[in-house]
Amino acid sequence: MKILMNTKLIDRGQAKVDIEDRGYQFGDGVYEVIRVYEGEIFTMDEHLQRLERSAGEIKISLPYSLTELKDRIRELVSVNQVWDGGIYMQVTRGVSPRNHLFPGSDIPAQLVAYPIPSKRPEELQKTGVEVITAEDMRWKRCDIKSLNLLWNVMAKQEAADAGKFETIFVRDGIVTEGSSTNFYAVKDGTVYTHPSNHFILNGITRLKILEACRNAGVNTVEREIQASELDQYEEAFISSTTIEVMPIVKIDGKSYSKGKPGPVTLSIQKAFRDLLP
Ligand code: PDD
Repeated sequence: MKILMNTKLIDRGQAKVDIEDRGYQFGDGVYEVIRVYEGEIFTMDEHLQRLERSAGEIKISLPYSLTELKDRIRELVSVNQVWDGGIYMQVTRGVSPRNHLFPGSDIPAQLVAYPIPSKRPEELQKTGVEVITAEDMRWKRCDIKSLNLLWNVMAKQEAADAGKFETIFVRDGIVTEGSSTNFYAVKDGTVYTHPSNHFILNGITRLKILEACRNAGVNTVEREIQASELDQYEEAFISSTTIEVMPIVKIDGKSYSKGKPGPVTLSIQKAFRDLLP
């Protein structure tokens, strides 16, 4: 496998991370996960723009223009013959003797991108998944796709240990998002999801789902959902680049739409797929 390390495509075995890379020591960086369908890089512009925004919010300047990056990512996909898979990419603040303070502007950011396996989880998309809820203990800049994923990792593991698929976060009584997904609840045919502010990551899949809903004539409202009112909703689902539209059949043991994926969720799943290559 070839990976992109800054401007060079090199063998995976040749890639080395410096022990003083700030991503390694501080989680000081940002990342993206992009899906490739039939060799086509899905929503690449949106992902690269979000990468640039995330980096900018923590004062990292991307080492390359988005145009150059796009060409490089295309090359990476082509060289590795990625057909149905994904690309992981991250940018860190660079390599410098350990110090909380930023290094000087002469220290370049470090970029890495490489193919990752990613297959549509078709069975789960049909049966739906069970989730649990937990307190959202993350910092308050969840809009930045930061490498700091400690609470996300803890929460995902807690779900897995309980035999569940995902943990949905609740902050001050409000349902925000999942540990690596956005969250939606459905009532009377309307889809509700958290507004895109600093308490959630504005998922690219989320944006596409809102578009798919418009296409399918499904009403959407970006509004806070109270955790205490969750049982008033008929359906729920989560989304991300890798799982697309994933129906939820149970939250903390309580069934939604009789323990089966709901009709509105399934129609959105289909409308979303219609947007894919
Ligand atoms: N996670 N919210 C969080 C906290 C996420 O980590 C993700 C994505 C999303 C969905 O964003 P998108 O639709 O752009 O993938 C929402 C990626 C897939 C990950 O960390 O692997």
